[in-house]
Amino acid sequence: MEYKQIQRQRNLASCYTKTVGQTPLMKIVCPGYDTTLLLKLESFNPMGNMKFRMAISMVEAAEASGDLKPGGRIVESTSGNTGLGLATIAAERGYRFTAIVDHHAAQDKLRVMQALGAELIFVDDGETDDLSTAAREELAEKIAAADPEAFWTEQHNNPANSTGYTALAYELMEVLGSEMDALVGAVGTGGSLCGTAQVLKGALPDLFVFGSRAGRLDSLRWPRRVLFSVRYRNTSRSRNRKMRRLFPD
Ligand SMILES: Cc1ncc(COP(=O)(O)O)c(C=O)c1O
Repeated sequence: MEYKQIQRQRNLASCYTKTVGQTPLMKIVCPGYDTTLLLKLESFNPMGNMKFRMAISMVEAAEASGDLKPGGRIVESTSGNTGLGLATIAAERGYRFTAIVDHHAAQDKLRVMQALGAELIFVDDGETDDLSTAAREELAEKIAAADPEAFWTEQHNNPANSTGYTALAYELMEVLGSEMDALVGAVGTGGSLCGTAQVLKGALPDLFVFGSRAGRLDSLRWPRRVLFSVRYRNTSRSRNRKMRRLFPD
């Protein structure tokens, strides 16, 4: 969807899902640093987080390709936020939604998904401390394969995840123009950081991109390649000097 179209829809929202985006940008004072730090308050999105952007993007891509038909079923492995988005969109558009979850998911998020009509399927019994991401994905794939009306959104391997953040990049450029030196974000699937960075780097090739991630990089697939290529390109001396100035510690 074109950015202008997204903007027009948001200004006159006809339903909750159309209120996504145009989140505030807040300036943080950093005494002693020659740096301006801005926070994009993505908690202002529907369901209180940025993942709503990719949830609507994945659903609309599946509708456009015909993979998701009216009255069909969405299946996704989720630890909470993607599921909240998909549950909301499913309730609004008349789809069934099956969330494959484990006991590490936050109880409040699971309850909201259920209240929105989602079916929750647990892959574990809550006895283990390990994340069950692989088991969740395996089951999501199996369930979707067995039901001709089902579509597995497969957030870790769906290009509509990262393109869901195109508007976020344009929102930043609309306010800041070229006045951006670095973009910092959390990495789960990598979709938000890579999707935002890909658009921004088209206009600002010198932009530094930093991803912060708990644990190992093993579960990253295509986004990992993008993150690494961004890092390798940023090695000239002048860029390293600039980086030290921006991040003295
Ligand atoms: C609130 C929130 N922000 C950011 C992220 C990271 O998103 P991504 O999966 O696009 O890397 C996640 C998911 O891990 C999340 O739940």
